[in-house]
Amino acid sequence: MSVAKKEIKRITTHVLQAMKEQGEKISMLTAYDFSMARILDAAGIDILLVGDSASNVMAGHETTLPITLDQMIYHAQSVIRGVERAFVVVDLPFGSYQGNSTKALNSAIAIMKESGAHAVKLEGGAEIEESVRRILSAGVPVMGHLGLTPQSIYKFGTYSVRAKEDAEAQKLIDDAMLLAELGCFAIVLEKIPAALGKKVAESVPVPVIGIGAGGDTDGQVLVVHDVLGITKDFNPRFLRRYLNLYETIKVAVENYISDVKSGDFPSKDEQY
Ligand code: KIV
Repeated sequence: MSVAKKEIKRITTHVLQAMKEQGEKISMLTAYDFSMARILDAAGIDILLVGDSASNVMAGHETTLPITLDQMIYHAQSVIRGVERAFVVVDLPFGSYQGNSTKALNSAIAIMKESGAHAVKLEGGAEIEESVRRILSAGVPVMGHLGLTPQSIYKFGTYSVRAKEDAEAQKLIDDAMLLAELGCFAIVLEKIPAALGKKVAESVPVPVIGIGAGGDTDGQVLVVHDVLGITKDFNPRFLRRYLNLYETIKVAVENYISDVKSGDFPSKDEQY
């Protein structure tokens, strides 16, 4: 029987560590609201990420930069109310932790206190070491995020694959080691070569969760709107769509509009 299914009422950092050690892959998806979180939790997802990708898929921004700490807390509160079993991680948004470890600590505490989430995620390696240290010292579990870090999109200039060159790959490995040594309970690797994803997963003792980082990481994460086909113009190679909800919802709504216009809805049975 899998580590996660063994009568586990709640996924914790310890359960996730045991899953890595026993070779059981970790499943992770984003969630931003109560109704979706409830479905994903009932399906048995291990980790729910209240990602700052809410800025894109919920608010319609081009990047993750505009979302605020208060907006992240609102999404996290909604997700937490829908969860009984999954471990809930919340992104610290852009501007809430970079370059100021006191601000980082206060942002992490605000998320934990006001939403009831279980951990926070920060993008970056050595450059955010002090912030990671201080958040961990307050007893807040931290998930790292390396590779393509969307909060730095204007530094990268493109969303293409990161760490293809040796120097960047070596920095990523060093950063992953550092984050694990500091005490991060897991690390997300985004859009890097599969061979590098494998190397990092084998080199660090904590779970490594990939998004476009190949099949040899300890788990996988995707944005739920992409998996369910609610988004339709985002088609990176790493994405597997399990539904085409954009079309399904559109057809359903077209049928509803047509029934309202024709007077078919409501029928005699659908009124008092
Ligand atoms: O915000 C997000 O959705 C993320 C995932 C892509 C890992 O950080």
